[in-house]
Amino acid sequence: MQHLFPKGFWWGSSASATQTEGAANIEGKGQNIWDYWYEKEPNRFFNRVGPENTSQFYYRYKEDIALMKEIGHNSFRLSISWSRMFPNGKGKVNDKAIEFYNCVIDELVAAGVEPFVNLYHFDMPITMQNIGGWSSREVVDAYVEYATTCFKLFGDRVKKWFTHNEPIVPVEGGYLYDFHYPNEVDFGKAVQVGYNTILSSAKAIQAYKELGQHGKIGIILNLTPSYPRSQHPADVKASKLADIIFNRSFLDPSVKGEFPAELVSLLKKEGYMPTIDEGDIDIIKANTVDLLGVNYYQPRRVKAKEHLPNPEGPFMPNRFFDNYVMPGRKMNPHRGWEIYEKGVYDILINVKENYGNIECFISENGMGVEGEERFRDKSGIIQDDYRIEFIEEHLKWVHKAIQEGANVKGYHLWTFMDNWSWTNAYKNRYGFVSVNLEKDAERSIKKSGQWFKKVSENNGF
Ligand code: BG6
Repeated sequence: MQHLFPKGFWWGSSASATQTEGAANIEGKGQNIWDYWYEKEPNRFFNRVGPENTSQFYYRYKEDIALMKEIGHNSFRLSISWSRMFPNGKGKVNDKAIEFYNCVIDELVAAGVEPFVNLYHFDMPITMQNIGGWSSREVVDAYVEYATTCFKLFGDRVKKWFTHNEPIVPVEGGYLYDFHYPNEVDFGKAVQVGYNTILSSAKAIQAYKELGQHGKIGIILNLTPSYPRSQHPADVKASKLADIIFNRSFLDPSVKGEFPAELVSLLKKEGYMPTIDEGDIDIIKANTVDLLGVNYYQPRRVKAKEHLPNPEGPFMPNRFFDNYVMPGRKMNPHRGWEIYEKGVYDILINVKENYGNIECFISENGMGVEGEERFRDKSGIIQDDYRIEFIEEHLKWVHKAIQEGANVKGYHLWTFMDNWSWTNAYKNRYGFVSVNLEKDAERSIKKSGQWFKKVSENNGF
């Protein structure tokens, strides 16, 4: 075995509530921004497919958890739907939601698959969005109430919690680049939303610690390394700014309890400092994460700006850099994303060297493929050799980082089974298990799922 991983390595996958559960408008669940936006503008979703049914995990979780076990999972990350737990975002809790999550958690534990539970994966209850979403302090308080309720109800069995998944994505999607509701373009609000999200994470961590449940609590960040086009000082400066804005903005406060000084001075200089209440900074400082989830799909390549930005245009982060398309880059042609396996190693070494070698794991990595049905063979199995190669090449770099002392505890693929992916709906398939939408969402293990079983059993390859 060339790549043996540390004993007890977490082998599994990750998913989220809105993308898998279905039963979106029934069973006591309230609407979240996705249910609402789809109702209002179905044309914004690929093939006009919305979140009502998704992959039916709500009804089929037993079958799905059995499949997880079959393909060698010892851990699985799911998220809890805030609007299923609290149909109005706060106040009365939905008993059917408690029952559902209790059943899922019990089923996972019984199958020997440790549940890793994330509290927020892009799915703001619409009642909370209507009062400002993450830009509102009232929503931060409601989130802490929701998080505390979950700790109390499920914390006896769940020992790995996460406050947020990719918290910068709702900032980008909802307040800068128009791919999440509320589709605003407002840099000042984006900064406030980002800041309040970090505060909500620290407050949830504080609440968790106060309960003394002896588990771990962390955050999941999409850490996208920023590579400059060249070593020209202008390119290097551009890549540093991109790193500060997109990575360190969340990584530093989450792990070190403080914001990067360069980010603070940039926001001050440009006149975009958020409103910070007395005591906030102390809460952020005192409540850092125990565990860091790293999501990695593709690198960010940048260069110095070619042209001055439109002085009348909205203020955007790319005022400081341009994206760079590197000639000869390796592509996933099915998704249009660059594949750069060494990126995962660079992230892990950075975390080791600059973030106290905090305990971490790969919480998402994966390869989206459009039209994957064409790879199904006569026996009905999707022959996704490209995915096996993708995972293997990334795992080699994870292994190397571990050899060099990085504190990496596991690898979760995005995702367990094909799921609904926001405005892309079912366009790109990522799962170990295929979900055949033509055949009542029939599940079947892909070649990569069978391969993963062996990797997990052997603890390496
Ligand atoms: C990740 C998100 O960033 O990307 C997931 O955490 C999402 O929720 C995944 O599904 C893949 O995105 P896409 O757009 O390729 O389907």
